[in-house]
Amino acid sequence: MLKGMNSGHTQLSEWGFSYLNLKGKLHILDVGCGGGANLAKMLRDLPESIADGIDYSEESVAFSKKTNSAHLGKRCTIRQGNVLSLPYSDHSLDVVTAFETIYFWPSLDKAFEEIKRVLKANGVFLICCESDDAEDTTWTSRIDGMTVYQGEDLKNRLLKIGFQNIELHMHKKGWICLKAVC
Ligand SMILES: C[S@@+](CC[C@H](N)C(=O)[O-])C[C@H]1O[C@@H](n2cnc3c(N)ncnc32)[C@H](O)[C@@H]1O
Repeated sequence: MLKGMNSGHTQLSEWGFSYLNLKGKLHILDVGCGGGANLAKMLRDLPESIADGIDYSEESVAFSKKTNSAHLGKRCTIRQGNVLSLPYSDHSLDVVTAFETIYFWPSLDKAFEEIKRVLKANGVFLICCESDDAEDTTWTSRIDGMTVYQGEDLKNRLLKIGFQNIELHMHKKGWICLKAVC
């Protein structure tokens, strides 16, 4: 499944990354890093940057470590953990990404607050989801604890928490991408 996610989410993540325009020496965290494909892309495209990953699942962490083994302990640290308690000090990261993962976070507003805590001033938070149709139960009826959020709802939550310059991009396939500045 993790191998499938690494290849199956490529188009979505390429589309999301196109709004980031990442350059230079950054410290990035990919939350819910899954099989580690997005970390691999960032480590490849940004040779001066650090790209770390965190994931709730032990299996994802092991797979992601395997995918990025060449960079581990150098420009990449991958840990098991929860978005609600990130092992980073206040205002220490330039970019936080979240691909196909917010559906599973136990408390979205608390998670957004935690991400805001670890981002530097002007740091960027990117969310990418394959769907924002809250009424489509195709997946939510099969996966316990999964919630699909509408783009406008996400935008309002981010605004309330104090993120700025929020961009909401919609793809014709129903994908959404939000970019928010801290
Ligand atoms: C559908 S997968 C997406 C993986 C990867 N981002 C991708 O796009 O291929 C969702 C991932 O989010 C992780 N996850 C779910 N809840 C989490 C939480 N509270 N904190 C951190 N990771 C979480 C899951 O363990 C899983 O690996």
